[in-house]
Amino acid sequence: MSTKNSLTITDNRTSKTVELPITDGTISTMGLRAIKVDEKDFGLMGYDPAFMNTASCRSSITFIDGDEGILRHRGYPIEQLAEKCSYLEVAYLLFNGDLPTPAELKTFAAEISAESSLHENMKGFIQSFLPNAHPMGMLIGAMGALGTFYPEAKQVLDAKVRRQQIARIIAQIPIIAAWSYRHGAGKPFISPDPELGYTANFLSMMKRGSEARYQAHPDIVKALDVLFILHADHEQNCSTNTMRAIGSSQADPFSAVAGAAAALYGPLHGGANEAVLHMLNEIGTMDNVPQFIKDIKGGSSGRRLMGFGHRVYKNYDPRAKVIKGLADKVFDILGKSNPLLQIARELERIALQDEYFGKRKLYPNVDFYSGLIYQALEIPIDLFPVMFAIPRASGWLAQWEELLLDKEQKIARPRQIYTGIELRDIKR
Ligand code: CMC
Repeated sequence: MSTKNSLTITDNRTSKTVELPITDGTISTMGLRAIKVDEKDFGLMGYDPAFMNTASCRSSITFIDGDEGILRHRGYPIEQLAEKCSYLEVAYLLFNGDLPTPAELKTFAAEISAESSLHENMKGFIQSFLPNAHPMGMLIGAMGALGTFYPEAKQVLDAKVRRQQIARIIAQIPIIAAWSYRHGAGKPFISPDPELGYTANFLSMMKRGSEARYQAHPDIVKALDVLFILHADHEQNCSTNTMRAIGSSQADPFSAVAGAAAALYGPLHGGANEAVLHMLNEIGTMDNVPQFIKDIKGGSSGRRLMGFGHRVYKNYDPRAKVIKGLADKVFDILGKSNPLLQIARELERIALQDEYFGKRKLYPNVDFYSGLIYQALEIPIDLFPVMFAIPRASGWLAQWEELLLDKEQKIARPRQIYTGIELRDIKR
């Protein structure tokens, strides 16, 4: 057996062979260009709609083994990060490659805190939405608008400017989220409290009434912080790919985050947490679960079991495992249960025994149980995708900075196979 790290391709049209090096388990599809029938031929391309088998970058941020159900950030297993770290530590890890020392964390938190205020005009911007506007649409619009307040953000090749915009976005995305909610609820906006940590501050901006300070239960703050950690990054998913695609044109990061958030909004991606809750409400009682599963398998409904399945995981999503345990804890702390949790558990039980789901390796994903926790925290259903976007901003921005520093990257510009009319004349 040859031990050569290469791939030899024989073109049966010409009987010529081309040898392509194999590096990191990949071949460069640019190497296929050498395969031509004649000199005029453009050369062979790869065809891969939806990037099913194409690596678009090298990245040292997040590792996923979808068959084994493994997720690690910078080498640390997600389970350990969720148990032992805060969301801000994980965000620092994503940006800098290592967990912060206590002094580094203090500085990082202070940098974010220093940017924790929205320009006064943003209030009017948020208030201009209809009260029933979807908060995700408001977030997308407000994030794009926010970039106009910081024109220097366009200097994406300046490391210092970049880091300041990162701090601004991490600091201000929870304010936009909370104020979008309060606008819809007809409540006055609450400013960030510099004495509170990142997650407690978000809860305060969401929930504070007339009291001087909103005191969330520390275990609830920790539970939300864990949810933030679990959503922080997930390598080249649809929204991160969008972030990188927009970033590759050297657009400012506010515009890129707005675009990434738009990609996240869809029900097949971050909008799935919202869709799961609507689905559970629609099922209504445990008795309806078997028929619901039957309808999905039959395909006639054209529906999917929301919160199930994943492009990469062909095993239990490790984030869903942590969230499932967290849901029990949160219900214990709050001393209340949610009947929808029983329906979710029954859906999972039946689906995991079912050949349809087994054959296709469909397991619960991160969105299956997260909404039940948000609901227990009295966060409205339409805010769920926003709850996903707040922490994912750190992953988007870490991936964006990695892209800008990667010498192999250029403007993202896929090829196509043209299927239209070749040429015709206007007959007039
Ligand atoms: N319910 C029922 N059938 C499903 C589901 C589902 N949730 N997901 C996939 N399938 C079937 C699909 O119909 C297809 O069957 P067949 O081979 O008979 O045509 C097969 O499984 C493969 O599906 P696919 O559409 O080729 O898979 P994909 O990798 O393109 O899609 C997915 C991945 C996440 C979009 C899909 O599983 C899905 O729509 N899930 C429901 C929405 C959801 O929960 N999204 C959140 C994903 S995790 C959070 C995030 O990072 O976005």
